[in-house]
Amino acid sequence: MKLSKLMTRLGTESAFEMLAKAKALEAQGKNIVHLEIGEPDFNTPSNICERGKKAIDEGWTHYCPASGIKEARAAVAEYVAKTRSIKAAPEQVVLTPGAKPAIVFTILALADPGDEVIIPNPTYPIYESATYFAGAKPVPLALREEKGFDLDLKELEAALNGRTKLIVINSPANPTGGVMAEKTFDKIAAMLKKFPDVMVLSDEIYSRIVYEGKHRSIAEWPGMRDRTIIIDGMSKTYAMTGWRLGYAVAPVELAKAMDKLAINMHSCTASMVQIAGIEAISGPQGDVDKMVAEFRRRREVIIKGLTSIPGFTCIRPRAAFYAFPNVKALGLKAKELAEFILYEANVSCLGGTAFGNFGEGYLRFSYANSVENIDEAVRRIKEALPRLKAKPQAAARKG
Ligand SMILES: Cc1ncc(COP(=O)(O)O)c(C=O)c1O
Repeated sequence: MKLSKLMTRLGTESAFEMLAKAKALEAQGKNIVHLEIGEPDFNTPSNICERGKKAIDEGWTHYCPASGIKEARAAVAEYVAKTRSIKAAPEQVVLTPGAKPAIVFTILALADPGDEVIIPNPTYPIYESATYFAGAKPVPLALREEKGFDLDLKELEAALNGRTKLIVINSPANPTGGVMAEKTFDKIAAMLKKFPDVMVLSDEIYSRIVYEGKHRSIAEWPGMRDRTIIIDGMSKTYAMTGWRLGYAVAPVELAKAMDKLAINMHSCTASMVQIAGIEAISGPQGDVDKMVAEFRRRREVIIKGLTSIPGFTCIRPRAAFYAFPNVKALGLKAKELAEFILYEANVSCLGGTAFGNFGEGYLRFSYANSVENIDEAVRRIKEALPRLKAKPQAAARKG
């Protein structure tokens, strides 16, 4: 069989590959601490589950409009306006099965072959994959530790040109846990005045998991609302990864294009899930506060633990649930070190290069796991690392 050429342009998310390797070890009877996958370990709050069950009994079990049930679109518009100081109308909202399709649809609906999409690096790998799929060119923009993993504005200015179609912003960020400075937003908004056709995809999926200050969206800056596509969803905030519910808030013309893509790809997002989603964003928010408080506690534990490992340094993440330690001192490629840690310490984490070339020299640990497991992971890594020198393969690469 010969697969289409299109398939050669599609990337993947290596978190799932690492998970598969870890699961294979578990199948052999090994005990693995999972710090690779980015999903809250909490249960979906009970009011949301109850609403979902009731929605099935009420008959929300049929097709609905491709962009979403009217009430769900209105609830999202209201939520987005309340959580950011912007106006949003229901016609701008497209609900999707998770935030991921909203990202891919935005890129497919905007980028033509020859267009350039400026993408931070390291970052969530789907932006680049979707850009290649659209036939457009990803232009990486390095996020450097020295700048707290914020954008380098000079490099952004140098990357912008007449072919730029879209800039991706992901604040709070995966994999670094970084938050973009308000000054950076000021400068981007000012810079984009010279490029009126450039759009911004602002992936704000971690908007509610912020430990210092308040979440800001570039859409709040003067002139930016009509050129920004806000992506958010229920997966991380409400521990709803398996329900598959996310959304885009986009200019109406683009929302209509995304509606057409939805019709072609999945028809609509599950009706009962949307009804549960209305409860998530409009109902009591106490469980979100509790989850964030627990993540904050774990952040302290993982930073203290990781920085106590010889060869590891780690800046304090300000949001999301990822730590991104610098492991350059160990002299190994990030992917190889992640594999060493998996096979020798039975701790599953990701090499920084799973998020792009500029992730070399870093590992990503998700701390959406218990304090006991985080402590155990640190203990195991400390115990295994002295064996690194004894590995001929690893030693050869060290030089
Ligand atoms: C930055 C970012 N955007 C989007 C997503 C996808 O979210 P969902 O599971 O709702 O598709 C993730 C998931 O890890 C993410 O880290």
